[in-house]
Amino acid sequence: MGTEIIHADLPSRRFEPRIYGVGAWVGHLHFAYDLVAALRPRLLVELGVDRGESYFAFCQSALENKTGARCFGIDTWRGDQHAGGYDETTFEQVSAHNRENYEGFSTLIRSSFDEALGSFLPETIDVFHLDGLHTEAAVRHDLEAWLSKIRPGGLLLLHDVDVRAKEFGVWKIWAELHERGRSWTFHDGPGLGVWEKPPVSKLPGFLEQLLSPPNERNEALARYYSDRAEEMQKKIAGHWRDGTIRQTPFAQQTIIQVFHTRDGSHREEDSVYARVGHEGWKDVRIELPNDAFAAPLRIDFVSALTTIEIASIRLTKEDTICFTAEDDTGFEMIRIAGDVELLPDPKLLRLRVTGLDPQLYLPAVNLPASEGTFILHLRLRVL
Ligand SMILES: C[S@@+](CC[C@H](N)C(=O)[O-])C[C@H]1O[C@@H](n2cnc3c(N)ncnc32)[C@H](O)[C@@H]1O
Repeated sequence: MGTEIIHADLPSRRFEPRIYGVGAWVGHLHFAYDLVAALRPRLLVELGVDRGESYFAFCQSALENKTGARCFGIDTWRGDQHAGGYDETTFEQVSAHNRENYEGFSTLIRSSFDEALGSFLPETIDVFHLDGLHTEAAVRHDLEAWLSKIRPGGLLLLHDVDVRAKEFGVWKIWAELHERGRSWTFHDGPGLGVWEKPPVSKLPGFLEQLLSPPNERNEALARYYSDRAEEMQKKIAGHWRDGTIRQTPFAQQTIIQVFHTRDGSHREEDSVYARVGHEGWKDVRIELPNDAFAAPLRIDFVSALTTIEIASIRLTKEDTICFTAEDDTGFEMIRIAGDVELLPDPKLLRLRVTGLDPQLYLPAVNLPASEGTFILHLRLRVL
């Protein structure tokens, strides 16, 4: 059977995601859309919503394909050690989007996953997406708590099954689940596992093809979704090139990524994130690991071609101030590199972001040997 025949009737052929590029889920949006359209879940639950990239793909499908689903998205909307911390802007924007588009059938529960557990009856969830904290202990805990809530024959989606850095342990749990039921793994981006809770049942439409033992149909489906993922990445790259990134949902917040290093080389695995909204001045406090070094510290902003005004940068360990910049003299010690231009300003460090990778390098500092908490404090606003 030709791959065209398999894909001709997939609803995602006509899917235009409203929310994309704000998380790490862009490679699976089309699958999420088809999944909801085909399975028509009565109850869908997601743990770990953040800015709603995955959750709103499920909701958009439920609405556009009139599936009649009840959807619940659960999160503290405070962030975690892998996603980084973020401010209230995220919850405000996610709840506004939910209210404006999906209020009739979608509920956001702002609580810990454990606290929300009592709101769901055993064996009632048709589609369950777990995308919370990604350590092995956290995923094991969340799955043990929630597995009994999924109905037999229901589907579990597990995000980040391919990531092996930064204490991610989802892959270990995924290897175990793989032995206990039918599954499929998408390897786009950080990887997505799809697992059917036993016993095996006949799934509707393309899902049965996907979860059947390896064959040319599930390979063709995986290729179809990889192509959609690539198209989405190209679309986002195009937004950065032509400046339309400013009109996308991505543009409502700025990500601050802080690289700490002991040997002068800056690696993704030795970095922490924070995210801020763009309404007014923000005092941001970014906690670095206790064993972090600043030789030197690098600060990147992922920000949609904005202007960033910085009033002060301070580095502290317990009571010791290790570095401070709040005027010309301090700001002159900071090296600027990558996609950024320095704009004149008598008081502020004023930066115009010109692309994806603006970088600030603080001077290398010797940190006190004490055990204390190591914190980067920034006072800034994004225009
Ligand atoms: C990886 S993000 C979710 C990404 C999201 N699915 C997307 O499509 O972009 C993880 C989220 O889980 C939340 N989280 C982690 N552990 C949690 C817990 N135990 N209870 C509630 N929320 C939690 C964090 O606040 C964070 O927003």
